[in-house]
Amino acid sequence: MNVAGKVAVVTGGGSGIGAALAGRLVAAGARVVVADLDGDRAHAVAAALGDAAAGTGADVASEADLRAVLALAEERFGPVDVFCANAGISGPTGLGDSDEAWARTVDVNVMAHVRAARLLVPGWLERGSGYFVATASAAGLLTQIGAAPYSVTKHAAVGFAEWLSVTYGDRGIAVSCLCPMGVNTNMLHAGIESADSAEQLGAKVVAEAGDIVEPEEVADRVLEAMADERFLILPHPEVLEFSRRKAADYDRWLRGMRRLQGVVA
Ligand SMILES: NC(=O)c1ccc[n+]([C@@H]2O[C@H](COP(=O)([O-])OP(=O)(O)OC[C@H]3O[C@@H](n4cnc5c(N)ncnc54)[C@H](O)[C@@H]3O)[C@@H](O)[C@H]2O)c1
Repeated sequence: MNVAGKVAVVTGGGSGIGAALAGRLVAAGARVVVADLDGDRAHAVAAALGDAAAGTGADVASEADLRAVLALAEERFGPVDVFCANAGISGPTGLGDSDEAWARTVDVNVMAHVRAARLLVPGWLERGSGYFVATASAAGLLTQIGAAPYSVTKHAAVGFAEWLSVTYGDRGIAVSCLCPMGVNTNMLHAGIESADSAEQLGAKVVAEAGDIVEPEEVADRVLEAMADERFLILPHPEVLEFSRRKAADYDRWLRGMRRLQGVVA
C-alpha cells in the first residue's frame, strides 16, 4: 500500500515504536491518530507532527475507547485505512500471579487487535481496501523467557494476524505482523531495571540475544513491508533463522532455550 493520503491509527503511539511509526507514517504522507493510554504523551507526539496528526487518550482494552478513536479519525481525516495495533504490555512474570493480571494482558496484547478488526473489517471489505499492522514480538514466534503471559499473548497476536491474512488477504485487506527482539524503548528499559528478577532475566536475554535497535529503524522496516504488503516484519533478521531451527527440531530448540536461560541467569 502506498500510505500517502491514507488515514492511519497507531495505538501505543505515545512512546517507543508507536511514536516512531506515527512519525514515519506522517512523513510518508499519511494522516495519523495517535492513541495511547497516556493521553498527554499521545497529544505531545501528535502536536510534534503538526496538522497531519491528532492525539487522544484511549485504553485499547476498552471497545468504547476503540470506537471513539476510530470516530475521531473519521471526523478529523476520514475513514481509517491503516490500523497499527501496537499498544502492548509486559504483563505479569512467571506463570502470572492472578487471572485478573492474565486477563489484562490478553485484553491489551490480543483482544484489542480482535476488537479493532471487528470494527474495521466490514468497512474495509466494502471499500475493498484496508491494512492491519499487528505489533507482536519475536516472543510470539519463539518465547519470552521469564513471562508466560507475554509469550502466550504474543503468540496469539501472531496467530490472529495470520488468520486475518488467510481469511481476507484476497479481498483487499493487507496484514503485516511486526516481530522484533530488543528495541530501545521504555518497555525494554523497564524490564532491564525491574526489581522483579524474572522480568529482568527476560529483558537481559532479549538484550543479549541480538542488537538493540532504535524505534525509528523498526518503523522504517514497517513502512518498507507495507509498501510491499509483506506479512512478517523482522527488524532482527536472525529471528527467521531461530524460527527455522525451532520448526526443524523442537526438542533441540527447547534444550537451547533452557541453556540460554541458565547462562543469562
Ligand atoms: N521494546 C521491545 O524490545 C519490544 C520487542 C518486541 C515487541 N515489542 C512490542 O512493541 C509494542 C510497543 O512497545 P514499546 O517497546 O514501544 O514500549 P513503550 O513502553 O515505549 O510503548 C508502549 C506504549 O503503549 C501504551 N499502552 C500500554 N497499554 C495501553 C493500553 N491499554 N491502551 C493504549 N495504550 C497503551 C503505553 O502507554 C506506551 O506509551 C508493544 O506491543 C510491545 O510488546 C517491544
